[in-house]
Amino acid sequence: DVPIVTIDGPGGAGKGTIAQAIAARLDWHFLDSGAIYRLLALDSLEAGIAVDDLPALIARSQALQIEFPTVGPQAGEVLLNGVVVTTAIRDEACGARASELAAIPAVRDALLARQRAFRQWPGLVADGRDMGTVVFPDAAVKIFLTASAEERARRRHKQLMEQGVSANLADLLQELRARDQRDMNRAVAPLAPAEDAISVDTTSMDVEAVIRTVMEQVEA
Ligand code: C5P
Repeated sequence: DVPIVTIDGPGGAGKGTIAQAIAARLDWHFLDSGAIYRLLALDSLEAGIAVDDLPALIARSQALQIEFPTVGPQAGEVLLNGVVVTTAIRDEACGARASELAAIPAVRDALLARQRAFRQWPGLVADGRDMGTVVFPDAAVKIFLTASAEERARRRHKQLMEQGVSANLADLLQELRARDQRDMNRAVAPLAPAEDAISVDTTSMDVEAVIRTVMEQVEA
């Protein structure tokens, strides 16, 4: 079987950064499952599909052309139907729609096969909310990354500033807490660690220390 490392946890815990770094070190494939929900969000917003039009949403789920290049000039970018949408899928409207779509069981089911298709030799690092619980329950290594809400908001703030986007830290913290509540309390796939996941609290760890901790688990 193709080996898998899953990295789950709440928004802003650094899953993306860590999962990408681990994938690069191992030279494995990388799946950003949150981006898949965001891609369907962007696609359905652009196509003017209502959030309750299930047949249309499911048809779009199956038709989306998704690429996460890890090498070459587009490494690190997200492509939808051949177009770079890396920044577009990060905006608030897309995030809000993604969160709504993620609460619809039929949408989650339709995206399941799309996510599992990323399992390819020599291995996969998958980041999200339910990678270790639902999508890849047989993963060899399951990590649950957490950090305090304040620290996650601070990191998000720094990231936005670096992108030249102005943001208010208090607003970010409030949004993040609202999303935590939605993710943990929703009826479908609520955010929770897999029974066999290793929890890593990154509140006072730097990126290198987290990478080292995860790599120790992979190599164990
Ligand atoms: O992680 P990110 O913010 O990009 O995720 C976008 C949305 O998709 C969030 O609302 C999150 O709850 C949802 N999601 C999910 N399952 C995943 C990944 C993301 O429900 N595996």
